[in-house]
Amino acid sequence: NPTKSDNVVWHQHNVSHQQRINVNGHQAAVLWYTGLSGSGKSTVANAVDQKLFERGCHTYVLDGDNVRHGLNGDLTFSDKDRVENIRRIGEVSKLFVDAGLIVSTAFISPFAVDRKMVRDLMPQGQFIEVFVDTPLEICEKRDPKGLYKKARNGEIKNFTGIDSAYDRPESPEVHLDTRGLDIEQCADAVIAKLDELGLLT
Ligand code: PPS
Repeated sequence: NPTKSDNVVWHQHNVSHQQRINVNGHQAAVLWYTGLSGSGKSTVANAVDQKLFERGCHTYVLDGDNVRHGLNGDLTFSDKDRVENIRRIGEVSKLFVDAGLIVSTAFISPFAVDRKMVRDLMPQGQFIEVFVDTPLEICEKRDPKGLYKKARNGEIKNFTGIDSAYDRPESPEVHLDTRGLDIEQCADAVIAKLDELGLLT
């Protein structure tokens, strides 16, 4: 089937991915955090990012609220737009990974099929899915932005966990049961996994 990029020729860069990795002294990867709104995705992602940065890693964080103000400012929370949201983040993450970074993304990314699509987009072993598993009752009790209340009142439609689905990851690389772990422990568990996978050397 013809696509819009049929007449676009891929341009090879002079500096290779491997050369960037060699200079950085660590592997590149995407740490793909997923979980309900208010589960703590951004908090854990930032804690891990800070630890990696302090270890001298080249990193960056892409997070839901910020990206939705800019790059994805045209997208809503309909199923179709959430798919496009994740597709664009996946493509941007792929560029960051190619640039040699450890990029952390903090998006609800509710649909398993879209997370799989991003996993398949990345080079083998460079997609690390981190499930920030905080039960809906806790997220709803926290309600830091008052959005669950609005969703229950019907002021917001298609709210994840209320009237829009969230597919729990079946085999994430890291499963954080946040009921038993504080932020520091969550961050340490992610770093331990990266060490175990040999991504930090
Ligand atoms: S998604 O599903 O991956 O496309 O969502 P994401 O880009 O991560 O955006 C989630 C944040 O947007 C706010 N918000 C909503 N979330 C879920 N459903 C609806 N309808 C909705 N409307 C606004 C909410 O603050 C989410 O923030 P986080 O950081 O996840 O708590």
